Amino acid sequence: MSILRINGCRELDGVIRIQGAKNSVLPIMAASILTEGVSVIHNCPRLADVDVSMRILEHLGCEVHRNEESVYINSAGLIRSDIPDALMREMRSSVVFLGAILARTGETRLSLPGGCELGPRPIDLHIAALRQMGAEINEIGGKITCRAKYLKGCRINLATPSVGATENAMLTACRCKGTTIITNPAREPEIEDLQNYLRKLGINICGAGTSLITVEGTDAKKDVEHTIISDRIVAATYLSAVASAGGLIRLEEANPRHIMTVIDVLKEIGCDIEINDIDKGIITASRKGKLKAARPITTSPYPGFPTDAQPPIMAAVLKADGTTVFVENIFENRYRHVEELKRLGADIKTEGKTAIVCGVNHLSGAELRSTDLRGGAALVVAALGAEGTSDISGLHHIDRGYDCLEAALHCLGADVKHIT
Ligand code: UD1
Repeated sequence: MSILRINGCRELDGVIRIQGAKNSVLPIMAASILTEGVSVIHNCPRLADVDVSMRILEHLGCEVHRNEESVYINSAGLIRSDIPDALMREMRSSVVFLGAILARTGETRLSLPGGCELGPRPIDLHIAALRQMGAEINEIGGKITCRAKYLKGCRINLATPSVGATENAMLTACRCKGTTIITNPAREPEIEDLQNYLRKLGINICGAGTSLITVEGTDAKKDVEHTIISDRIVAATYLSAVASAGGLIRLEEANPRHIMTVIDVLKEIGCDIEINDIDKGIITASRKGKLKAARPITTSPYPGFPTDAQPPIMAAVLKADGTTVFVENIFENRYRHVEELKRLGADIKTEGKTAIVCGVNHLSGAELRSTDLRGGAALVVAALGAEGTSDISGLHHIDRGYDCLEAALHCLGADVKHIT
């Protein structure tokens, strides 16, 4: 078993480059099978989920390899349309291969992604969208079989702006006959990045980032290069870390436009945040004195406050003066980090969607176990602001989203050690 040992209450001081976005690279890797050419994807973070996507692509018959931060995918030789259960279970977001494989081959066989990390994560909207486009779908015993003689463009209205369902609908629409209009799609920056990649393939698609996406189906067969956008949740996590530990850090290659709601909360609680160069993504963030509580923080789809930033920001306000209320509207079970944060001495009460954090004067190091990706990041953020030693286990959750977290924290001057 590996643990991350953190000796907290040491001010951070240093520079860190923000990695490519996990939630962008995964759908774009799935989209690479739409072309029968080569995709070279730059700024790919080294993450367990990216490795799983590479293995899925290899299983399908694609040629895949990584060179530093670039992943090369040649999908000309794709010969299969199934994904084995073991691979599906490793990563919940593997479900985005559903639309991509269907679009390329006219059929897909895969199983439901496993686990229940943040509460129920249904895929009814994905399935309904694909059915509207002409797919026949059977779901038996957790296995999904999907077939389409032909796919036809149509109007799809998503009841909820689901990120995954929007991506699956966009990918399938690329091979539909005619035009598909998606109303109430997710508007996250990662959706726009996927659109930019699809355009490079020659697909006529527009509207990502707005409340209406239009896709015209085409048989695009191009070789493309694409650079993944910066990971906004990773940037939000490091900003939360300096709020928790104090000090002054500089982020490079971040995209401040994508995290304005998070920056606003951090400024409100007393951090000093300056956007030095919006195009180079340079942000300086510091925290000198005591923090104060924030007004209620309510998660909602983009451009609202991101659910993925709720855990690290909660960790940042544990010692703030006053009471901060969180309302989690996206996932039912997204307060699993709370019990662990309480081990450090945090005063948090939860009831349904609401968590109430009463600031305490100090936190002391404890043994902590991460139970999900962003919840694990919250434990790291809190431990950086706690006196004494914290040992964090369950690191495989954190490795799914943070590229070389320990090295990055070292660069920022944190006292952190990976112990096997
Ligand atoms: C994506 C992100 C995840 C983020 C989430 C919300 C990736 C790989 N993951 O997850 O980090 O936390 O968006 O911003 O991009 N829903 C349904 N039926 C469906 C699909 C979703 O009811 O068919 C509901 C979900 O239960 C949830 C809400 O819609 O309450 C949003 O989920 P969704 O946007 O689909 O999240 P993911 O795409 O799984």
